[in-house]
Amino acid sequence: MKDVLKYGTVLMSAIALAGCCNDDCKKQEAACCTATTELTQEQAVMDNILSRRSIRNYTTEPVNREQMAKVLECGIYAPNAMNAQTWAVRVVDAPDFIEGITKIAVEANPSIAEQEGFRNIFRNAPTVAFVAAPEQSYSGEYDCGLLSENMMLAAWSMGIGSCCLGSIVPIMQMEEAKPYMERLQLPEGYKLLVGIAFGYPEGDTPQAPERDASKAYYVE
Ligand SMILES: Cc1cc2nc3c(=O)[nH]c(=O)nc-3n(C[C@H](O)[C@H](O)[C@H](O)COP(=O)(O)O)c2cc1C
Repeated sequence: MKDVLKYGTVLMSAIALAGCCNDDCKKQEAACCTATTELTQEQAVMDNILSRRSIRNYTTEPVNREQMAKVLECGIYAPNAMNAQTWAVRVVDAPDFIEGITKIAVEANPSIAEQEGFRNIFRNAPTVAFVAAPEQSYSGEYDCGLLSENMMLAAWSMGIGSCCLGSIVPIMQMEEAKPYMERLQLPEGYKLLVGIAFGYPEGDTPQAPERDASKAYYVE
């Protein structure tokens, strides 16, 4: 209970701190808040973490490559076991790649194209980061998870939305997708873990799916 209250207090202070932000901005768009108010470092970091959501619709504009370079830099500064930096990350904003994978996915399962506003299999994102780890590594998946979250939080702080996409892995593993996997030039013995959609959000930021605070607590 103590921890629920603590979490709630952090959340409320993150929401309540920015007097000159409108309510939607305070609750849902960290980048908007930080641009218009002076936040302490703690407030800015908390606000960014708590307001990030998985974004599932984007404008067609690819993420600016200078911004993406900052996102990647934040990714590779994530903690990782023995600083082995086991990850391999490949960013794609080539329309023919994104359309090609989408075509393969839709041919295998035509119903996915029936979703309203469907443009591509990456939740309509114009930019995708593919994250891979060595098949044989005790820390690879953990390292890549930390890198991925660093990238998504860095992106959010710049007004760039993101969504982790485990669903694209089996599509990328299809025989027809082989030429695209080859374009990723993953090192020998690496496996694709996830794709991360990046782009400028289109539409409202969704509300946070509920979290179960009872899963994390002190033991005495
Ligand atoms: C490893 C992983 C795989 C995911 N795969 C998908 C996916 O295939 N499609 C999707 O829409 N969201 C996917 N998500 C996003 C989750 O659904 C989302 O993070 C979760 O519902 C919590 O919502 P939030 O990110 O807005 O806080 C994935 C997230 C993770 C960490």
